Amino acid sequence: MVTKPLKVAVLISGRGSNLQALIDHFGPVITTSPVRIVTVISNRPGVQGIERAKKAGIPTAVIDHKAFPDRIAFDASLDRAIREAGAELVVLAGFMRLLTEGFVAAWKNRLVNIHPALLPSFRGTDTHRRALKRGVKMHGATVHFVRHETDTGPIIAQAAVPVLMNDTPDTLGLRVLQAEHKLYPLALRLIAEGRVTLDDERAVVDGRAEPTVLFSPAL
Ligand code: GRF
Repeated sequence: MVTKPLKVAVLISGRGSNLQALIDHFGPVITTSPVRIVTVISNRPGVQGIERAKKAGIPTAVIDHKAFPDRIAFDASLDRAIREAGAELVVLAGFMRLLTEGFVAAWKNRLVNIHPALLPSFRGTDTHRRALKRGVKMHGATVHFVRHETDTGPIIAQAAVPVLMNDTPDTLGLRVLQAEHKLYPLALRLIAEGRVTLDDERAVVDGRAEPTVLFSPAL
């Protein structure tokens, strides 16, 4: 039973469909929700995600990385805004800037990301095209705690989708994105409910039903 919602800052750079999924799932004003989005911050002005947050009545900020001399100054400004908003967890949702080692260390185990592949496969960009090229039969998305090395860190939750015969990067990407929209709320709920612990660099989640095995192609 959650008494106090976990306050999160969501960092975006664009469309914000994952942000929307979080807003829809947790709601901006539902007091019983285990998660409360206290701020949405974009490093790019004029993006759709900021409009989505405003529509939901969530405070927003644009911190344009181009206005800073270097990454350290930009990250310091981000850090300040996040702390001023009172956030306890930083949620990267399509945030397209690499974070400095100092920022990642300061938010260690309180900084999560969603990546459009089943890590540790396909780190980096262009994951759907690379997955198709490699001929994998399952693809998907991963929510993980962030470490300094890009797309590494303890895996909290994953969603797998089948790769279908006539898939293009776009059709496969859409299937993965739809899975992301269910996965991110689930992962944040698990964290907020205190059900994710770390065993060295392995995230352990308690109390979930045994998952159904997924086969692709189907049996
Ligand atoms: C998602 O595919 C996410 O996995 C990746 O960036 C994309 C963001 O999409 N990190 P959106 O802005 O949430 O629509």
